[in-house]
Formats: sequence, C-alpha cells, structure tokens
Amino acid sequence: MHFILQLKTIPLFIRYFFNVVDQHSLQSPYVFEFYTKLILAIKQNNGLEEVESLRHDFFRDNSHVYGQDLGAGSRVFNKTKEKTISKIARKGISSKKDCIFLYELVQLVQPKLCIELGTSLGIATAYLSKSTGQGLVYSFEGNKGLVTLARMVMDKLKCENTQIIHGDIDVELPEFLKKISEVDFALIDANHTENALLKYFNMMKSKFIKGGIMVIDDIRWSTGMYKAWEKVHSDERISISIEFLNKGLLIFDLGISKQHYMLSY
Ligand SMILES: C[S@@+](CC[C@H](N)C(=O)[O-])C[C@H]1O[C@@H](n2cnc3c(N)ncnc32)[C@H](O)[C@@H]1O
Repeated sequence: MHFILQLKTIPLFIRYFFNVVDQHSLQSPYVFEFYTKLILAIKQNNGLEEVESLRHDFFRDNSHVYGQDLGAGSRVFNKTKEKTISKIARKGISSKKDCIFLYELVQLVQPKLCIELGTSLGIATAYLSKSTGQGLVYSFEGNKGLVTLARMVMDKLKCENTQIIHGDIDVELPEFLKKISEVDFALIDANHTENALLKYFNMMKSKFIKGGIMVIDDIRWSTGMYKAWEKVHSDERISISIEFLNKGLLIFDLGISKQHYMLSY
C-alpha cells in the first residue's frame, strides 16, 4: 500500500486511543457481561499447542507460494511477487493472540455454521474449527498454493468439521449462501477494500441469526476500509458494534438500542 495512503490512517488510530474504554465504563449490562467473560477467557487461554507448532514449522519454511492474490494486496508483500511461506506466516496471518480472541468469541456463540473469508495458511481456520466443535466451518481462499497448504493443516490437525473452498469469494460466496439457511459466526479477512467489505457484509447479512457475530479484520487498514466499517455498523440489524483497534465486531439483532464501543483485549 502507498505510504501516503498509510499516513491517512493515522487519525483513525488516534481516534481509537482517545476513545478506548475499559469494562468499568460500560453502561450496558449485556456488553459488560459479554466483554468481562471474553477478556477472562482470553487471559486463561495459552493457545492451541498443536496449531502453534504448525505455525512455527511455517516460520522456518522458505519455499514459495505460487498463485494469484485476489485481494487488495498487503503492506508487506509486493502483490505481483511470489511470497515465502515463512513471510506469510510472520506477517500475513492472525497472530496467536488474535487466534485466541477468535477462539474465545466462537466459544461464546457456539455456532452451528461458521464462515471465514480469507483462509491463507489455515492457522486461524484451525482455531475456528477446534472452537466450533460440533458445528461446521467453511473457509474461502482464492490462492491455490495456500489452499493446498491449508488443507494439509486441516488434515494434520483432524479438523474434520472444516471445508476449504477454493475460488474467488465474489463468485463462490453467493453460490455457497444459496445452499445454507443460517450463519452464526463469520470472520471477514480477505480483500481489504471498501467495496469488497460492503459487498461481503451485504451478501451475508440476511443469513445471520439473532445474536450472531461477525468479525471484520483490518478496519483501520485504509480510510476506505474504515468508511465501509462505519457503514456496516450503522446497519439496522446491528445492535452492538465494538472496535478492538484493528478488528470490528458486530452483534446482530439483540432487540436492544444500538450501542458502539471502542475496547481492547
Ligand atoms: C489476511 S489473509 C487471511 C488470514 C487468515 N484469515 C488468518 O486470520 O490468519 C487474506 C487472504 O484472503 C485471500 N483473498 C483475498 N481476496 C480474495 C478473494 N477475492 N477471493 C478469495 N480469496 C481472497 C488472500 O489470498 C489471502 O490469503
């Protein structure tokens, strides 16, 4: 991403650091309970050893991943060049801390059906899979090389409840949504552009159950992403929206007045 465009995101970070609050400032009993439970669970979770061991194997793997990058690209990688697995594992996927956050959110929702847009190496997918347990996980990835690696991760970790869907999300997601009736949990972490985020949110929102949770990664990646985030959290179906710095969390249809918070974990 161009340096000038990155500079434009600085006020978005300043706004967050000026407005972030802790649980004692939460007036809503629902959000207080939700946040307190989540934070406590995160503190007590040290991560999934078997998944982290595969992450460390990837750190040491300097082979290249070939194939098309369908997203907005990265601040770290040149969109046109092949990347090494090691670089993707270090800079292009959710950290252990972020994976624990996702794992504990899923524990709160206990989803029957969980969607991830943007699988990459499948490390966060494995956390989603293990936390979802009896439910099903569908993860979408456009890069063939990454799909092969992520499927290998699913096999090694026996993530039998998880399917990696290969192809452009713009094409695959609408087809997939025709076949299912409800979604309880989704992570949007693929094409980091304003248009793509709005498109993915609008495609999925009618399938979301009451109390369902959608997490959007990299909301401060660009001013366009933040604009899209502001639009989606204003949607009438969203009861609670929370900014966790780079992650945006949306809770659907709780039947309470709309609330928006900036919190940390
Ligand atoms: C940031 S990575 C996903 C990281 C992963 N969710 C995690 O938490 O570790 C984004 C991925 O989305 C994929 N992607 C971007 N745009 C896509 C599209 N239109 N269709 C399919 N995959 C896409 C990229 O190939 C990349 O692997």
